[in-house]
Amino acid sequence: MTVRGLICPVCGEALSETETGLVCPRRHGFDRARQGYVNLLRGGRPGGGDSREMARARRAFLEKGYYAPLVEAVGDQLALCLSPGATVLDVCCGEGWYTAELSRRFPEASFCGFDLSKEMVRLAAARRCGAFFFTANVSAVPMASGSADAAVHLFAPFHGAELSRLLAPGGTLISVLPGRDHLMGLKQVLYDRPVPNDEAEPDPGALTVVRRVRVRTDAVIRGREDVGALLAMTPYAWRTPRAGKERLALRDELSTPLDFVLLVMKKEN
Ligand SMILES: C[S@@+](CC[C@H](N)C(=O)[O-])C[C@H]1O[C@@H](n2cnc3c(N)ncnc32)[C@H](O)[C@@H]1O
Ligand SMILES: [Zn+2]
Repeated sequence: MTVRGLICPVCGEALSETETGLVCPRRHGFDRARQGYVNLLRGGRPGGGDSREMARARRAFLEKGYYAPLVEAVGDQLALCLSPGATVLDVCCGEGWYTAELSRRFPEASFCGFDLSKEMVRLAAARRCGAFFFTANVSAVPMASGSADAAVHLFAPFHGAELSRLLAPGGTLISVLPGRDHLMGLKQVLYDRPVPNDEAEPDPGALTVVRRVRVRTDAVIRGREDVGALLAMTPYAWRTPRAGKERLALRDELSTPLDFVLLVMKKEN
């Protein structure tokens, strides 16, 4: 399965599907991995992005459904702008939980997702959720200009110029960033003086922010496994002093606010 608009990362010509992967008219070929994804990182070998441990932790935590209110809210915003047959891009898709949930909710749309991390994309593709996954860098995505009717972007590096290029005129980008209180319950265990998030918004560049939506719930993370997976999928896993991690390791339950800000942006016609 391929996606409308995929272009060769070497020469920029359109890619078409072969038995074994994708190829451009100049014969630059890209093999499909066993899990079904294609590596479209320029220069061949993928590298960078989140590690295998982070990918597995993200998978383990998200699968438990703690972030269901967030994916529902993102879906509600998509529902306002999607027409049947639309192409929706999950930018820096991670291990694909949001891509899979959203493609289930919008079966008539065509979903694709990419991430810099091969570990993430491999897990995402193995979901076999009907979406197409590829490795790519958000600063240079191998898709033709205007080929995405909508895009979602959660907790990831933002590249305004590139995201605006990818969107069709009138297209919508839904970007999610951590709200002030997000995971404060976790930070209170890890740190002596936890600091709220600053909610700094990315520079939207040529896009226009048309709406801000806050999703805030209080969650109870149950079991050491889930508490550990939550820590391991956040940057606090490598930023926290040992004493904080030891305090957390004793917890088999954690109450914390989940606080998200959705920025809905439009590309003007
Ligand atoms: C915090 S995770 C969020 C993943 C997913 N959106 C989610 O919410 O589950 C950030 C993701 O951005 C990816 N990433 C980091 N730098 C990137 C880049 N330059 N281009 C594409 N993806 C990148 C990482 O590999 C990681 O999967
Ligand atoms: Zn080519």
